[in-house]
Amino acid sequence: MNVGIIGTGLLGSAIAKRLASSGHSVLVYNRTRQKAESLKKFEIQVVDSPKELASKCELVITILKDVPVIEQMAFGENGIVHGKHDGLIVADMSTISPISSKNIAKKFTDKGISMIDTPVMGGPSLAEKGQMVVMVGGKNETYQKCKTVFDAIGEKTFLLGENGSGHAMKLAMNSQIAILALSLSEGIILAKRSGLDPLTFLKVLNSTYFKTGMSINKGPKMARGDFEPSFFLKMMQKDLDEIEFTAGKVNANMPMTKLANKIYQKAIKEGFGDIDYTGILSYLEKSK
Ligand SMILES: NC(=O)c1ccc[n+]([C@@H]2O[C@H](COP(=O)([O-])OP(=O)(O)OC[C@H]3O[C@@H](n4cnc5c(N)ncnc54)[C@H](OP(=O)(O)O)[C@@H]3O)[C@@H](O)[C@H]2O)c1
Repeated sequence: MNVGIIGTGLLGSAIAKRLASSGHSVLVYNRTRQKAESLKKFEIQVVDSPKELASKCELVITILKDVPVIEQMAFGENGIVHGKHDGLIVADMSTISPISSKNIAKKFTDKGISMIDTPVMGGPSLAEKGQMVVMVGGKNETYQKCKTVFDAIGEKTFLLGENGSGHAMKLAMNSQIAILALSLSEGIILAKRSGLDPLTFLKVLNSTYFKTGMSINKGPKMARGDFEPSFFLKMMQKDLDEIEFTAGKVNANMPMTKLANKIYQKAIKEGFGDIDYTGILSYLEKSK
């Protein structure tokens, strides 16, 4: 299967490499072409527009910043719809609200193109190992046609129902991550200010029932102040906006998310947006 990827940022590049190494023919488009050029050494072809990508691929996966960008790449000048051919499938792997996802799926359907939502859990390093968790919304029949592609990316896949249900699940997941990063940061800071070694704090935490993948894998980096991005803090804040928007629409009471969003927003204002989301720790340490 020829698979096209639009957006070769942190996640998109990793997904492209994984698919190429698992035998798929991979083509990519990125707004900043130069950032995609490094993928050529993995036998990945770089093309000039989403239109060209769609015309050459059976499946196009969008892995983009937010809804306006997806809309532009999908329906704008030289967008995906202009490369339409029989059998073209679009899968959105960005993190957006289920409401926007449904609207986008309808616009594609109106143009005769099938769309599913396929957001993922796991960062670039798990993507490169094919160990993501994939959450699928949309028609099962459409998903089955490109199942082999998602099997190469994900260790587990959940088929959740109609368009938007993958994204609804993803937002419920990311509310966990945003709040957990804050909670772990506060624990590390309290331990440090109390004269304890933060690595000992993590050793104790990770000996208990309350350990998490984050406290095990990200915790030591957080304690050392290593915030090399696998998922930008500004992207986490964008997700909190999407969660708050969705919560408003479905009448979900989420006071912790609201507070978390305010904290991440302040961190971005203070210049912490381009580090890893776990760098919320360094913002908390520096602010009063
Ligand atoms: N990183 C993760 O661990 C992870 C995990 C799950 C889901 N996600 C989701 O995946 C999506 C991408 O995340 P990422 O971590 O890969 O972020 P990223 O590294 O910042 O990549 C963002 C991508 O969006 C493109 N983009 C931004 N503004 C654009 C515009 N105005 N027009 C065209 N393209 C534009 C960027 O192109 P340029 O290179 O030209 O800027 C880049 O390809 C987000 O929705 C994120 O929430 C990320």
